[in-house]
Amino acid sequence: MIQKFEMIKSLRGTLNLAGDKSISHRAVMFASLAEGESIIYNCSESEDVTSTINCFSKMGCKFERDGNTIKVLGKGFKNLQQPSDDLDAGNSGTTTRLISGILAAQNFQSTIIGDESLSKRPMRRITEPLKLMGAVLKPSDEGTLPMTIYPSSKIKPVEYTFQVASAQVKSAMILLAIHLDEESVFIEPVPTRNHTELMLGLKTIPSENGIKIFASKKNYPVSKVFTVPSDISSASFFIVAGLITQNSEIIIKHVSLNPTRTGIITVLRNMGGQIEIFNEHDEGGEKVGDLKVSSSDLTNIEIPKEIIPNIIDEIPILSVAGVFAKGKFTIRNSHELRVKESDRISSVCENFKRAGLNVVEFEDGFEVDGELTTSHVEFETYFDHRIAMAFGILASKMENGASVRDFEHVGISNPKFIIQMNGLSHNSNI
Ligand code: S3P
Repeated sequence: MIQKFEMIKSLRGTLNLAGDKSISHRAVMFASLAEGESIIYNCSESEDVTSTINCFSKMGCKFERDGNTIKVLGKGFKNLQQPSDDLDAGNSGTTTRLISGILAAQNFQSTIIGDESLSKRPMRRITEPLKLMGAVLKPSDEGTLPMTIYPSSKIKPVEYTFQVASAQVKSAMILLAIHLDEESVFIEPVPTRNHTELMLGLKTIPSENGIKIFASKKNYPVSKVFTVPSDISSASFFIVAGLITQNSEIIIKHVSLNPTRTGIITVLRNMGGQIEIFNEHDEGGEKVGDLKVSSSDLTNIEIPKEIIPNIIDEIPILSVAGVFAKGKFTIRNSHELRVKESDRISSVCENFKRAGLNVVEFEDGFEVDGELTTSHVEFETYFDHRIAMAFGILASKMENGASVRDFEHVGISNPKFIIQMNGLSHNSNI
């Protein structure tokens, strides 16, 4: 589907976004593992989380959906049923990598498949460390999906230092470790999102070499009520749109403000972005608050290496903010972008070139500056939801508008993106 965007002159209003995708995936998984009934409020409406639900349905868990509220009947310790066919993770790397840790602990064989994009993404980053715990996983010869997971009688705890800064790898190992009586100890040199640790109540202590994380069967999930805060990654598209559009003021309610995710707010504020946080409070171990975003004059800054894992999903939209900021936007140390839903370095660079900008691509990032073209352009999504939304925002800032091809891919994280943009847009100056 080709989505046309006209130039937006002002964005005003209040947004209530759906639940955070990372937290929703975990809520669905933990409720499925727990014995008995759990309820998830404000669950993500994304296709990715639906992929997780479908995988656990195939393993005997029951889901009853009423809007964003989901009642889950979980199966209990090592009691998932063998699926009668392959588990389809769709486009979702989080589904694939996290359930691999869970499946490695079960007494049956299973195979995970995915769509074209997911089938190209690297799985050895989980198979190699899970093998150290005695798991038996066989990805394709290229180290990708389809991947078959075999039952193993040799699962054992480990003390392991993560080699890749990835919450998905960390979570896969933790989810295997919670099936063992003896404790595993993981050391995370570079912090990544910590929803798994918070939601399972894991003990974590800072150490010289990084954060030490302890996990064992004591942390196996029990049934409960989960309330999911709104998704800061979905919010980031509207935050940037509000900052770079004149006469704009947007309130975004009940957003997840977990410090391992708020790097985007830190960077945009350091660029001069007016983002106020109010009603900040704790909810189920996660920080939550409302945001007020006002039009701002932005200036590009040096983005420190340490913050990259915290902003990894927001880099495409951050770079759109960079195009409207004074000076050149530069991002480095972001090699991980090459193995996301698309190669996000090349996707972003190609689209920026179409917009008439000057782009230099590096192996681990890119730089961009220059003037936007006044002719109508057509952007590509590369079948990647975050590229679709980032260039939807850029398109709505171009003098003569622009189009984005294959825009339906927004559904992977936010099917309501267009409705929400339309609700905020005012096409005349006020
Ligand atoms: C996620 C972790 C991140 C992120 C992804 C969601 C998660 O991936 O990019 O969108 O929910 O654990 P990596 O951990 O591989 O960086």
